[in-house]
Amino acid sequence: MRITKAQRVEGTVRVPGDKSISHRAVMLGALAEGKTTIRGFLPGADCLSTIECFRRMGVTIEREGDLVTVYGKGWYGLEEPRQRLDVGNSGTTIRLMTGIIATQPFHAVLEGDESIAKRPMRRVVGPLREMGAKIDGRQNGEYTPLAIRGGKLHGISYRSPVASAQVKSAILLAGLQAEGTTSVEEPYLSRDHTERMLQAFGIDVQRAGNRVSVSGGQTLRGREIVVPGDISSAAFLIAAVMMVPGSSLVIEQVGINPTRSGIIDVVRAMGGHVEIVNERLVNEEPVADLHVAHAELRGTVIEGELIPRLIDEIPVIAVMAAVAQGRTIIRDAQELKVKETDRIATVASQLAKFGAKVTPTDDGMIIEGGAALVGAEIDSMGDHRIGMAMAIAGLAAEGETTIANAEAINVSFPGFANLLRQITR
Ligand code: S3P
Repeated sequence: MRITKAQRVEGTVRVPGDKSISHRAVMLGALAEGKTTIRGFLPGADCLSTIECFRRMGVTIEREGDLVTVYGKGWYGLEEPRQRLDVGNSGTTIRLMTGIIATQPFHAVLEGDESIAKRPMRRVVGPLREMGAKIDGRQNGEYTPLAIRGGKLHGISYRSPVASAQVKSAILLAGLQAEGTTSVEEPYLSRDHTERMLQAFGIDVQRAGNRVSVSGGQTLRGREIVVPGDISSAAFLIAAVMMVPGSSLVIEQVGINPTRSGIIDVVRAMGGHVEIVNERLVNEEPVADLHVAHAELRGTVIEGELIPRLIDEIPVIAVMAAVAQGRTIIRDAQELKVKETDRIATVASQLAKFGAKVTPTDDGMIIEGGAALVGAEIDSMGDHRIGMAMAIAGLAAEGETTIANAEAINVSFPGFANLLRQITR
């Protein structure tokens, strides 16, 4: 992918469907009684992996573009897969499916790509074992491939050391078929799409602060799900507006769930303009149009409860911080080290190529703003969000920027390069 300095970013656009919600719609649809129709599904590689895994367990799933129909056969309608289930690059697929398969009366092996092979799994394997599941993997269940022998589980009360929606969701999904009540408490509230969608599918979910509980033996009912645009994809376009003076953009139908909207808070704290217009609720999820206008940004501090609300946006926030006035400090973000790449290391190494001043730390990074960026030869390192964040940096850099391994972007944002061309001049 090649990017040159932009004069202006403008237009009215939509971004592809939310990745987290698309995964969950397929999973809950597969476990539900009856048909589930999903509109606005994200046809990115990660969510296609989820579809493929459920097809291999005997679920009929039809797809035409962003319209998906799942013919659910109920919680015990899944079949033992004859082959290993390949999750590709998708952490959400493997972690949530581990929770689901732990309840099934069969055996399955889950694995993915080189990046998945390096990502920690004991954070879900540990609590699922406490519930009675039999799961093995390299290094005592820390790494893939994971071999699962599902069966009868019992509810637990789990206090998670990390604010992770994948951990929370895996345990809650297992809890839906466990004996008794299962509850998860996390240090900060992570994205709550599972809780909201379970309610939309007719499940009773109890929530109090950072604690959520479900009781076993409940039935999901198939329904229609409309997936909003992914705020994590919109974040790249918001940043594009902030990188190029004189720019403005309308992004329609974006999910603005408060557990995901930290990017809006941060851009505003940095001095940027983001207006939330036409807010409404679609299947329990808040959705709105975003009116975004350029402003000179200033540095900020990002920490604590804000981190899980924008964890996937930190690469592109670092890009904005590089041109903002003053210093930006990001801390409490150790989780970045176990994403698709070690995003503390990959952001620092790739952004430095533009002439940005980034110092990696143990739990985040410090960025000295005010850099005049110069075009660079970037490598996505196989990480979709690194590829896109660096493409956005390229819009403000003198000369040409190239992104190697840009195909990784298809994981979450198919059509990214075209959309960027469409809104830049
Ligand atoms: C996701 C949860 C987050 C996020 C990931 C998607 C989800 O991961 O980074 O992109 O859909 O549940 P963690 O649960 O590891 O924080």
